[in-house]
Amino acid sequence: MSELTVIVLAAGGGTRMKSKTPKMLHQIAGRSLVGHVLAAVSEAGASRVVAVVGHQRELVEPHIAEILPEAVIAVQNEQLGTAHAVRMAVEAASVSAGTVVVTYGDTPLLRGESLRALVADHEAAGRAATILSGIVPEPFGYGRILRGDGGVAGIIEEKDATDEQRAITEINSGIIAFDGAFLAGVLPRIGNDNAKKEFYLTDAIALAVADGLGVDAYVLDDVSEAEGANDRAQLAALGKILNDRIVTRWMKDGVTVMDPATTWIDADVELSPDVTILPGTQLIGATRIDEDAVIGPDCTLKDTEVGHGARVVRTQAELAVVGPGANVGPFSYLRPGTVLGDEGKIGGFVEVKNSTIGAGAKVPHLSYVGDATIGEGSNIGAGTIFANYDGVNKHKTRIGRHVKSGSGVTFVAPVVVGDGAATGGEALIRDDVPPGALAVSAGQQRIIEGWALTKRAGTPQAAAAEEALEAGVPIIGEPSATGE
Ligand code: UD1
Ligand code: CA
Repeated sequence: MSELTVIVLAAGGGTRMKSKTPKMLHQIAGRSLVGHVLAAVSEAGASRVVAVVGHQRELVEPHIAEILPEAVIAVQNEQLGTAHAVRMAVEAASVSAGTVVVTYGDTPLLRGESLRALVADHEAAGRAATILSGIVPEPFGYGRILRGDGGVAGIIEEKDATDEQRAITEINSGIIAFDGAFLAGVLPRIGNDNAKKEFYLTDAIALAVADGLGVDAYVLDDVSEAEGANDRAQLAALGKILNDRIVTRWMKDGVTVMDPATTWIDADVELSPDVTILPGTQLIGATRIDEDAVIGPDCTLKDTEVGHGARVVRTQAELAVVGPGANVGPFSYLRPGTVLGDEGKIGGFVEVKNSTIGAGAKVPHLSYVGDATIGEGSNIGAGTIFANYDGVNKHKTRIGRHVKSGSGVTFVAPVVVGDGAATGGEALIRDDVPPGALAVSAGQQRIIEGWALTKRAGTPQAAAAEEALEAGVPIIGEPSATGE
């Protein structure tokens, strides 16, 4: 393979998106449109990438530089047409040889392997240009491939085409492989005498034919690969296609997905074989799920790691780590910095932030754990609050190993509870608890007889109390035989 340069055209606007964000920066499957294209280009083995930016380049340029720092940036100040854009790239990178592939920055479904196949076909035949074409039922808007007795004769744009040419269903995907020397030489020869008064890159094809050079079209099996997103409806449609592709790939790799239609997996997610994903689950960003874990139903996990055999149900998590064999949910909220150890548990209606919960430790019910470490084997009672914020600063709570805390406890940070210690129910723990000690702070229960009769006089509460007292019921009445 000769040196491969890929030019990515990303200078155009995206007015139909009706957005302050440039079209190429809109995301599907956790990556921008241009991010998907750059991934395919890298996969195809490009030795050099030139991105042409213009419209909103103050946003597009740094975005491309972040994804692919080695990309050469070419600036096209006015969008005078695809040939003009390519000329900016050829000049910026001094392209004069090798193979040059022109692609667009808004075709997120393009596969690296399709680019590779195009380049291989192009180079094997030694042509001046090879068009990646496709057959579509509704070719409206696309450039049509003109084929004559001698093969491909040129490309005619929609606006310049005759009715007869408009009936042609073989279209230019926009992606074209060129011989670099031919491309550099032909660009200055392209004019703008056409319906749009633009410099059309597609005119290069007829010029090559006129020069007696080889050109042909390489037909793409899956035309959706060349589809761009021009508005939000197309963005969603491409997002759905890409998601189907990703979900199908994981199923082929041994992941069980009960309902592909309601399962959304970003491009950078990693799954092991024998993971099970139940309906309504979104796996976002750099999420990684290990073997035999079961996720869902109804989970949203972002940049989260789930260990071998863990179970996560109806959970929202971000930048969290769930250890092997651990249990999370239902209705759990794991905020950044949550680390749950092996076989640990974060149960229903529990929120955890920036805290490490040790191996086998459990926070089973209705609690808030913030800025804490909980040692292995400890059990935190229902309704516990880690009061980490004094209104100005956040403080840490450290709970030792095998601590048993009662329900309704408030740990007021900073505070430390030693290994093997315990706390009574409703305790307010402000001071450190030594290892093995029991800390109690809830007061004695006091009884104020007949309180409801005076303080709640005239209410159903007072009436119920009065009836029970009159009947001489000791504490609570047994249901009467007649059911009254
Ligand atoms: C182009 C092709 C057409 C093909 C279609 C596929 C030409 C003349 N026509 O038409 O044959 O079927 O794509 O989608 O090439 N761009 C720039 N600078 C410019 C103009 C365009 O960077 O001055 C970029 C745009 O951002 C876009 C791409 O090039 O990503 C295509 O431009 P667009 O104007 O949409 O071309 P089409 O009319 O769709
Ligand atoms: Ca277009």
